[in-house]
Amino acid sequence: MPGLRELICTYVAVFAFFVSASTVDAELVRGGGSKKSDCISVFDVPSANKPAPPKAPKHVDCVDGDLACDIDGERNGRCVFDVSICLNSDSFIPDCTPEFVDEVVIDHAEDNGDPKFDTEFQALQQRVNLLEFPDNLNLNDCTLVSSITVRLKGPNGANKMSNNKKVLRMESDGTATSRSKTDRDKIKFKCRAEGDRVYLPLDLYDGTFDRIGQQVFAASCAVSACHDDESNAGGLNLLPINAYGQLVGVAPFNAAAAGDGLLRVDGSGDFDNSFLYRKITGDLLAAYGSQMPFGLAPLDPEIIDLIRLWILGDGLTGPAPQTGWVAGTTGE
Ligand code: HEM
Repeated sequence: MPGLRELICTYVAVFAFFVSASTVDAELVRGGGSKKSDCISVFDVPSANKPAPPKAPKHVDCVDGDLACDIDGERNGRCVFDVSICLNSDSFIPDCTPEFVDEVVIDHAEDNGDPKFDTEFQALQQRVNLLEFPDNLNLNDCTLVSSITVRLKGPNGANKMSNNKKVLRMESDGTATSRSKTDRDKIKFKCRAEGDRVYLPLDLYDGTFDRIGQQVFAASCAVSACHDDESNAGGLNLLPINAYGQLVGVAPFNAAAAGDGLLRVDGSGDFDNSFLYRKITGDLLAAYGSQMPFGLAPLDPEIIDLIRLWILGDGLTGPAPQTGWVAGTTGE
C-alpha cells in the first residue's frame, strides 16, 4: 500500500499536468541549481530577457526608459522591474516535479548591519513571509508583485551615467522530484544608461537638495548601521525624506561641536559653521569625531563642492534651500 507522501507526489504530478496551461504566460526564471529541484522556487519577472528567446531567460538586461523592460518607461536614471516569487512551480515537469516548500530566505533582506542590506529585498521577504510555511504544498503559490529599482551610477563630472545592477539571491528549502533540497536561485537586474549616457541632474532630480539626498545621503550615508532608521548614528538620520529636518538649523549631537556654536547646517549659508561640511571635508578638531563617510574613502571633490554650493545657496533660492535648483548644481 503506497504511503501518504507517495500518494501526494502522484496526485501533484497528475494535477500539475492538467493545470500547467495556467502559468504559461508568466516569465518564469528557474534561478539556477539542479534541474530536478529548481522548481521549489522560481522568480516571475516579466522583464526577463537575457538570453534572448528561444532560450529561457535567466536575467534582465534593460536600457533606461525602454518600456519593454523598464516599468517606469522614462529616461530618468533608473530602471524599475516587477518581481514575484513562486513556490512549487509546475512549469518544468517532467524535469522537476514540485512537492512542498518549508522556507525561503532572501539574501540581504535583514537590516542587521549587513552592508548590502536592501529595503526592496526586505519588502520582498515580507511578501514571501505571507505565504504558508512550513509544508507549503500549494502549486504555483506566488507572492504579491514587488518592485526592484536599479539606479544608474553617477552622474560623474561630465554628467555621464554608468550601468548598474542588482543581484537577487534566495535559498529555498523543500522537496521536489522526491529529493529534499536547498534550491539556490539568483537573478541579475541590469540597467544600462541610454544613448550617449549624458543625464543632466535636472533630468534626474527635483532640485539641489533632492540631488544631494539621492546621490549622497541615500547612497553613502543612510546605509545599514549608519544614518538609517534603525541606527541613527551620531543621533543623525539621513534618509532623504528625513534629512532636511535633521540638518538645517539643528545643533550637533557632538557636544564639542555644539559647544563651539556649530550647527549641523547653518541656515545662514555659513558652510564653515556647518558641522556636515566639516565632517565631509575632514576639517575637524579631535573632539569632533571622525571624517565622513565613516570608514570609507572621502567623497569626491565635486560632490563636496555640490554640498558647499547648496549650503551657500544663491540670490534666488537663499541659503540651504529645501527645494529649487541652486546655480552651479544643475550640471548644465
Ligand atoms: C557621506 C555620508 C555621511 C555623512 C554626510 C555623514 C554625516 C555625519 C555627521 C554630520 C555626523 C555628526 C552628527 C552630530 O554629531 O550631530 C556624523 C556622525 C557619525 N556618523 Fe556619519 N555620515 C556619513 C556616513 C556615515 C557612515 C557610512 C557611517 C557608518 C559606517 C557613519 C557613522 C557615523 C557615526 C558612528 C557618527 C558619530 C561619531 C562621529 O561623529 O564620528 N556615517 N555623520
